[in-house]
Amino acid sequence: MIVGTAVFKKMAVACDHGGLALKPHILKTLKDLGIEYLDFGTDSMESVDYPVYAKHVGEALHDQSVDGGIVICGSGLGIAMAANKMTGVRAAPCHTIYAARLTRKDNDANVLALGARVSAPHLAQAILEAFCTTPFEGGRHARRVEQLMKLESNDRGGSRDGGQR
Ligand code: RB5
Repeated sequence: MIVGTAVFKKMAVACDHGGLALKPHILKTLKDLGIEYLDFGTDSMESVDYPVYAKHVGEALHDQSVDGGIVICGSGLGIAMAANKMTGVRAAPCHTIYAARLTRKDNDANVLALGARVSAPHLAQAILEAFCTTPFEGGRHARRVEQLMKLESNDRGGSRDGGQR
């Protein structure tokens, strides 16, 4: 049973072969949550490269055809690293429900990374539900997310030792 209101309207979903086993469970939970989705594959067990699939999600976020994303690989780690190279992406690999809640509440994460070899389907579905129903808290966290996003541009907000150059 789904408790709580979804904070995302439409999400991009992509996985590599290592994440494929989890994808149908994730799509089902998105339907249960009333969240639309775009499925960018992969759809076979043929070995593929996870950065290619993370890129689809980053591009869909960038062109605003979605307001969130889910990336899945074996560990949830490689595909999260790849997604985080894309402008505007705040991808969080979550292996617990608590982490999913915290990264929405504190970091305004817009992409959830899951590991099909780490989280069993029921746990992954519960993590997804927590991620999709936890609002960003804002306040002091908004300032930090703003600083975080500046790190992807040349504006690093001062030198490494904190002094002004
Ligand atoms: C693929 O075998 C595997 O390396 C990939 O799914 C992922 O776990 C990488 O981080």
